[in-house]
Order: sequence, then structure tokens, then C-alpha cells
Amino acid sequence: MKWPNHGGQPEAIKQLLCMNDEKQLLDFSANLNPLGPPTWLEEALTNSYETIRRYPDPAYSTSSAMVADHEEIEPDKVSLTNGGAEAIFLVAKYFEQGKALIVHPTFLEYERACKHYHIDVEDIFYEQANDFKLPVETILAKLKNKNVLFLCRPNNPSGTVIPEEDIKVLLEEGKKTGTYVVVDEAFVDFLPASIPGLTSWLAAYPNLILLRSLTKMYTIPGLRIGYIMADTAIINVLKEEQIPWSINALVNAIVPKLLEDSRFVEQTRDWLQEQSNYIYRTLKQLNFYFSDSNVNFYLLRDNIQPKRTEALFYFLVENGILTRHTHNFKGLRGEFLRTAIRSKEENEQLLAALQKWREMS
Ligand SMILES: Cc1ncc(COP(=O)(O)O)c(C=O)c1O
Repeated sequence: MKWPNHGGQPEAIKQLLCMNDEKQLLDFSANLNPLGPPTWLEEALTNSYETIRRYPDPAYSTSSAMVADHEEIEPDKVSLTNGGAEAIFLVAKYFEQGKALIVHPTFLEYERACKHYHIDVEDIFYEQANDFKLPVETILAKLKNKNVLFLCRPNNPSGTVIPEEDIKVLLEEGKKTGTYVVVDEAFVDFLPASIPGLTSWLAAYPNLILLRSLTKMYTIPGLRIGYIMADTAIINVLKEEQIPWSINALVNAIVPKLLEDSRFVEQTRDWLQEQSNYIYRTLKQLNFYFSDSNVNFYLLRDNIQPKRTEALFYFLVENGILTRHTHNFKGLRGEFLRTAIRSKEENEQLLAALQKWREMS
């Protein structure tokens, strides 16, 4: 079967499985915040309509300053991007024809971006049997001669968070070997306040590059907004490389409002904590494996029948639930299903279907 490359494509899956178009599928395959977009956004976009008549400020000064303020860093350490995806490709361009390390399973676009810019990639793998622990010693041994290490924290698809001490060791070694550490923090806003992002480390580590996206938290994949935070010298080069007016006027107008809405982020974290507790408690009772995730998705597998993941995928589809296959995440071989955390009612439907699967098995 030709599986789609990304989640969030129920129509493509229906076509692949020759399913009736009318059949409704609850989409647990995408990892967007089900609480969003914030209710005020539609009106704010309508009110910003006039901005589309003009070219946006090419430096995006107001929204960049707002991001810098929000992150408590200097404005010249920030560059806005057309979503997290552009941030990944811009950074890859910076290391064009260099050598990189990528730790799998992880977001597919690092590899694609590296290929695009003729970067020679060496693959490393999280320790699956050890709850996707980062193989720090293996990485340290390979940093020499590498220009860049790509990490995703929290990681997509496992939702796991690399401990701060591991990142620190890698950054220290990277300083010696001349290796940059790119940390994609696209899901960092979902983390509890007790697990902060790495922005405050930029001052001590000029070899640290952070990638952000507003897509996931605010449920705005169609608007396209993200940013890069790094040392000024890197940011200046990246800005030179960026396509002019890469960020559209509408989203540029609403960035400040998004960042001001801390209540929305707090509400999301409260919902996530409540629903994660409920889901993981039930999955444990039903004897399913779930990765030690701190965000709005996790890897799922049946502990009793770990080899029947594909059968489980089809069973869930038959029961109106779409999860994300993991065939194209290196190292996972399709053995898990990436499953989003959704609204209480939707999560109840998922758990009821898993209970039914358990009763049949
Ligand atoms: C880890 C990670 N980084 C970046 C992105 C890209 O985000 P955006 O839609 O803002 O380009 C995604 C999207 O799935 C992602 O999972």
C-alpha cells in the first residue's frame, strides 16, 4: 500500500482503502491542537483584510520584535519563517553540502531538506526498547567532522523530551568539534511549565539553533508561520537566503495577537494534562504500550499482539478512527501508530474501540 507521507489526510486514506466517501473518520492522525484555532482569530483575520493590499514590511519588524520580546531575547536573534517547514529548509541551506546527523524516528522533513541541499546524512536511532532514549554516547562519538546535528524536542512521533543534561553535553562537545545543534521545538508550547524550551541557552551556546512553529498550538496549518532563533551571525545569513515576503501580510498582522493569548496556551495545557492522564490510565488497564510523551500525541502499540499493528490500524478505521501509520518513520517499520490526543468525547471513542479490540483478541 502507498501510505501518505504525513498525517491529517483522511480523504487519501479513504481512497487508498476504497472506502465509501460518506464514511466519517475521526482524525487522530494529525497532531494539531483540537482546541484551536482561538475563537477570536476569524474576526482578527477579517479585520486585517486591508493588509493584503500592500506588501508587508520585508523585515517584519513589529512581529519579529514581538517574538523577541515574548522569548526574552534580542530582536537580531530572531527570524520569522513561513511555518516550521521553511525554518527547516533555511537551516539546511546554511549547511549546504556539509555533513549531518539525524536521530530517528523523527520528523521526515530534516532528511528531505538535507537531501535537497546535498548534505551527507548519517542516521542514528533512539533506543526504542529504552523508551526512545537518546543514544548520547553514540552521538558524541560521531560529532567530529559533522557540521550539524538535527534534534526534535519534543520529538515527533514519540512525543518524548530529550533531558536537558543530554543536550548540554552535546552542545559542549559541539563547541569543540565545530558542530551546530539544531533543535526543532515545534511542539514546545504543549509542554508543562516545568519543562521549558531552550531559548535561554542561546546566550551560552552560539552553536545552538532553535526552530519554532505556531502551527500546532494555534491550529493554523493553513496560515504558515514559524521562526528561527540563533546567534545573530547565523540569523543574518539566513535572512539573506530567505525568499522576500515569505510571510504573508495576514499572518504577519496576527502574530502579536497570537503571542499575547497566553490564556489559550494555558487552557490547552490544562486540557492536555487532564486528557493524557485519562488516556494513559486506560491504555495501561487495557495493556497497550504508549510512549512516554509529554505532548499531544504518542506512539501506541498492543502489548499482547505487538506484531498486529497493521490489523489494529484497519480495525480502528473500520470503527471510524484514523491514526497515523509509522511505515515512513525510519526505525519504526510501521510497528506503532502515532495517535493524537483529541477532545474528551473523541478520546472516549478511541478507547472504546481499543476496548473492543481487546475483547476480540
Ligand atoms: C516536528 C515538526 N516540525 C515542524 C513541522 C512543520 O510545521 P509547519 O506546519 O509550521 O511548517 C512539523 C509539522 O508536522 C513537525 O511535526
